[in-house]
Amino acid sequence: MSDVGKLPLVVLISGSGSNLQALIDAVREQALPVEIRAVISNRGDAFGLERARDAGIEARVLDHREFPDRESYDRALAELVESYRPGLVVLAGFMRILTPAFVQRFRGRLINIHPSLLPRHRGLHTHQRALDAGDREHGASVHYVTEELDGGPVILQAKVPVEPGDDAATLAARVLRREHVLYPTVVRWIAEGRVRLEDGRVLLDGRPLAEPPLLEAETAPAP
Ligand code: GAR
Repeated sequence: MSDVGKLPLVVLISGSGSNLQALIDAVREQALPVEIRAVISNRGDAFGLERARDAGIEARVLDHREFPDRESYDRALAELVESYRPGLVVLAGFMRILTPAFVQRFRGRLINIHPSLLPRHRGLHTHQRALDAGDREHGASVHYVTEELDGGPVILQAKVPVEPGDDAATLAARVLRREHVLYPTVVRWIAEGRVRLEDGRVLLDGRPLAEPPLLEAETAPAP
């Protein structure tokens, strides 16, 4: 199929890349109108790099340990990302804090998926923190990236219940399953021109979002 008219993406990862896989699958199976031009990892051992190669996508490593500081790494990363001319840069488990210079350069075309119902539980260990706080609900958020860590405007969220007996691993697995629906949904909205960032607000179909919308609840599997 021709890539003309498709939104060019660069996906940044650090690890397993299951969200990357969900995007790759959605391109194939649901005709997601994007072209994943490259996958870039800051770690050479990220399994997501194999997922990219298996899908015929260029897989690049830019190892942060080879740079003296965050600024120089992010400058090199920005050049590498920009060399693919992306319309959208997708952080999919990219476990580095980005410098303001990087964020400003890609403002409005840089999104992240975070495993909590933002603004709750910014940062790391979100599943354990949701359990420790006694949350009854937990989930994931996709947001535009701003200079504030996990603080950019939210585009869409997915909720899951916290079940009795959950530990951080069972809860993480339940959230991750929803992430794999959430991220392709948002990428589709952006690729179709339905979502954009304007004056620091998310517009969906031309209207500012008062509250972040929720992904439809998972339908129960047939008995
Ligand atoms: C996902 O749960 C994602 O939300 C989280 O890392 C995991 C990556 O999984 N991201 C963050 O915590 C960002 N601060 P994956 O590599 O299998 O897609």
